[in-house]
Amino acid sequence: MPWDRAPRAIIGDAVALLPTLGTFDLIFADADGGTWHSLDLTIDALRPGGVLFVDDMDLTRYANPEHVAKTSAVRNQLPTDPRLTAVELHAASGLVLATRVR
Ligand SMILES: C[S@@+](CC[C@H](N)C(=O)[O-])C[C@H]1O[C@@H](n2cnc3c(N)ncnc32)[C@H](O)[C@@H]1O
Repeated sequence: MPWDRAPRAIIGDAVALLPTLGTFDLIFADADGGTWHSLDLTIDALRPGGVLFVDDMDLTRYANPEHVAKTSAVRNQLPTDPRLTAVELHAASGLVLATRVR
């Protein structure tokens, strides 16, 4: 299917911008803001049926206990959040793919 709009680059603080941008079919969450904190804003920005992709979820990558705790919180929320269905992929840096179901 051809794209009906040209992609647009938006530069700024994702945490401040996310509530203003509408909803998305696909989100690759690759920043502290919107993943390790304010994950709810990212999930809120997913359209029903939309896909969220998160990397760097392999806990063995982290030596700092604070990073382990923050990453564990993300890993725990994604499969238990009632808005999502999520699956972990044991590949690369540790991946979670989630779909917004409600
Ligand atoms: C893991 S790196 C992503 C690198 C990027 N995917 C690339 O390939 O160049 C995370 C980046 O997100 C930025 N970042 C962290 N929190 C942010 C926020 N709230 N809004 C926007 N960017 C943020 C960091 O400064 C860092 O550059």
